[in-house]
Amino acid sequence: MKNNLLHILRPFGQEHLLTFWDALTLEQQQHLAAQIEAIDFQQLAKFYANRNHPTRTLELADKSADPYGYKFSSVKSTSRCFARKPITTLEAINAGNAALAGTLSQGKVGAILVAGGQGTRLGFNHPKGLFPIGVVAGTLLIQIHFEKILAVSRRVGFNIPLAIMTSPATHIEITDVLEKNNYFGLDKADVFIFCQGTMPTLNESDGKILLELRHSISLNPDGHGGMLAAMIKKQVDKNLSVIEFFKNRGVKYLYYNQIDNPLAQTCSPEFLGYHILSNSEFTTQVIRKKDPTEKCGNVVRIGESLYMIEYMELPDAIARRINSDGSLHIWAGNTAIHAFNLDFLERMSKLPDVLPFHTARKKTTFVDVNTGIINKPTTPNAVKFERFIFDLLPFADNAIVVEVDEANHYAPLKNESGAVTHSPEHVQLQMLNQHTSWLKAAGAIVAPNTLIEISPLFADSEEIVIKKIKPGTIFNSPTYLRTNNNEI
Ligand code: UTP
Repeated sequence: MKNNLLHILRPFGQEHLLTFWDALTLEQQQHLAAQIEAIDFQQLAKFYANRNHPTRTLELADKSADPYGYKFSSVKSTSRCFARKPITTLEAINAGNAALAGTLSQGKVGAILVAGGQGTRLGFNHPKGLFPIGVVAGTLLIQIHFEKILAVSRRVGFNIPLAIMTSPATHIEITDVLEKNNYFGLDKADVFIFCQGTMPTLNESDGKILLELRHSISLNPDGHGGMLAAMIKKQVDKNLSVIEFFKNRGVKYLYYNQIDNPLAQTCSPEFLGYHILSNSEFTTQVIRKKDPTEKCGNVVRIGESLYMIEYMELPDAIARRINSDGSLHIWAGNTAIHAFNLDFLERMSKLPDVLPFHTARKKTTFVDVNTGIINKPTTPNAVKFERFIFDLLPFADNAIVVEVDEANHYAPLKNESGAVTHSPEHVQLQMLNQHTSWLKAAGAIVAPNTLIEISPLFADSEEIVIKKIKPGTIFNSPTYLRTNNNEI
């Protein structure tokens, strides 16, 4: 077996993977051999050679124009996005609600939550979805998302089916927590857990594949774009693919959220309505950038198609361009909240290379093959190859953006405690600000520095808080508002 493996590895300079071979048990050898046999070494060598070439070119950024789109009525800024056809807020909300309630003749809504990332920047010892983010009750990120789906389902009178994507790095822990907590109130039959694929992680300086253990290759999840390939695979335990799961439920529109953003509004009727009424196959929520070089994806239009240009692939001079009124030329920052038509995703999933691989530089723990010792680097040492779901934008018919306000939609947990933005404290402050502002809008009196956390089951919008909280109610100690039946 060893000689056969050497035969595979030698042409690509990856023989170091067998450094510990002779000391492994038979079972460990079989595990390592299976991993090696599953790798496309030629593809990997090509990706490594191209690692410094961005997939988006200067030319692409240079031609960019304002995307077509709409904005939420709550957005105060003067946005430069142009509707292809007029749709009023009320029309959008009505269409979205009809699809959510399953009464829109064109189809129903399903939700998809991606939770496969390794969360390397956060440095938390568990999947990011299990981070206790709630300021009063320490509610887990995943619970907030599940309760939002439950709240919407109860409101519209239709159980929104949910698919949640895990990866080998997160699957067991997430599944355990869901089982132990009875799916946070959702019906287990309405939840489809599926696991994404992986890519080998390489040492940045020489392209050698890293070993996670002496008998195991370091594999990273293949990016949130890995969702596309994972959606058409039949899950062994259910004999069903994600696409089939949704089709069986009559779903036509998918609402996509990422686990790390507790402010993401799940299944917003207004957002869905713009998507449906404009016949868009892929609609994405954006926020107005405050700074030209903000570290976020940038949605632009080139010709009739929308593209997402990652910040590291956007030349500085182009990012800094301004319009005659002083506003940023490239202004639409990615929130990673999308709506897709299910048949669009199905069509795209049949094109295996539709999504390119991007290179990310991350810290990765590895076994030093010279010493056998586990090394935990403090700076990025590895390259990972990942696919991004937003690269489907240019392939979608009538793709649009919908501008939303950051304070109510976007607070992703990315960085470790102490970082200036997207740290646990920063996200908690954004959640606290939102919940406090809802209470104040209801006429409540919130004493300074009072910690407030509102479960989506109590209220998932200002409107509902206004209906439930009496003007003059005083909050002067830490308060967690949660009911299990959508009543006070
Ligand atoms: P990020 O790109 O921020 O990655 O993911 P991450 O894993 O959370 O964190 P870092 O970059 O390692 O620090 C954004 C969202 O996409 C999901 C994550 O779970 C998160 O919700 N994701 C990311 C996946 O589901 N799979 C992946 O392969 C990557």
